Amino acid sequence: AAVDLADEDYQLNGFPDFMRKEIHDQTRAGHRALRGRLDERFATARLDGLGLDARELRAVRRVKFLGCGSAYYAGQLGANLVEELARLPADAEPASEFRYRNPVIEEGTLYVAVSQSGETLDTLAAVQELKRKGGQVVGLVNAVGSAIARECGSGVFLHAGPEVSVASTKAVTNMSLSFALLALLLGRVRDLSMAHGRRLVAALAAIPDRITDVLAAEEQAIAAAERYAGTEHMFFVGRVRGWPVAREGAQKLKEISYVHAEAYEAAELKHGPLALIDHTMPSVVIVPDDELLAKNIGTIEQIRARNGPVIAITNADLPEGLAETVIRLPRGEPELDPILFTVPLQLFAYHLATALGRNVDKPRNLAKSVTVE
Ligand code: G6P
Repeated sequence: AAVDLADEDYQLNGFPDFMRKEIHDQTRAGHRALRGRLDERFATARLDGLGLDARELRAVRRVKFLGCGSAYYAGQLGANLVEELARLPADAEPASEFRYRNPVIEEGTLYVAVSQSGETLDTLAAVQELKRKGGQVVGLVNAVGSAIARECGSGVFLHAGPEVSVASTKAVTNMSLSFALLALLLGRVRDLSMAHGRRLVAALAAIPDRITDVLAAEEQAIAAAERYAGTEHMFFVGRVRGWPVAREGAQKLKEISYVHAEAYEAAELKHGPLALIDHTMPSVVIVPDDELLAKNIGTIEQIRARNGPVIAITNADLPEGLAETVIRLPRGEPELDPILFTVPLQLFAYHLATALGRNVDKPRNLAKSVTVE
């Protein structure tokens, strides 16, 4: 369909740029991702576009997410959700790696191609390779009628609305919400209980409005961004549920601020990168209030012991003075909290980039969708 530039999705409507506008559109977009897809009666999700009945869903033995850039990192978050809620082995791989390594296509594996634009060449080529070899592939795509959506033929539309800013924000959040729906659906035809399903349905339904709460506390991210705007390098640290969040946070900062950001698994710091920590190397640490809280507090202590500044992104009550800077979030269900954690990292990257005077909507060397090799 032709783009109607009069459409409000293509107008700034008072925002300074599209990235800011799209960050602030995430509550509305999130509601659209969930609309008609939560089944309270049976405590499950409805994803009719997948075209898979309960028997076919039960035949899935493994799930593999394929995508590029933020869609790949989101896929990692999706893989965690599927493992956790459906207890199925799941992982994510960059579509470009997958297409070139002559992958073993397994029966019983559900491949999920993830893409905002639906036009990314590497992801499209991975889908074509999968189909040639008889793999079962569905799309998780934002743009209706796009090449990947058509090639897959079935899947889940993200309903994020058009995304103009090169750095993906609302599409990433809707990817995560859609993965949660998929994980819930796969879980409920296996051994995820009705009671657990109920809690997840309620928590998922609440996420869009909790995004509003995070956005209302934007001042925290602004203060943190201004404080660290002069830094040249930064670590983003997370473990398990927080790991894909850290990767996406580092990606956002790199893309739009050109500050060198590197994501690391918390426990891997001591196997090398700890050597880089001093007062000039701040770390953004993802600290969800879950069973790994004590471990993450330990990580912060290790960093602080080397004089590394720490920005903790957390929904837990951290000991006073543990981190130099704290960005606080509301609590939800621990399995789903990673979805919300991405939002303050978008704000942090955005405000750090604007403090440096960057053109956030059009970062140098990058394109919104990469349709070439
Ligand atoms: C480009 C964009 C990224 C995006 C990636 C995948 O590199 O700059 O923001 O994550 O493509 O795009 P897709 O449209 O397939 O999600």
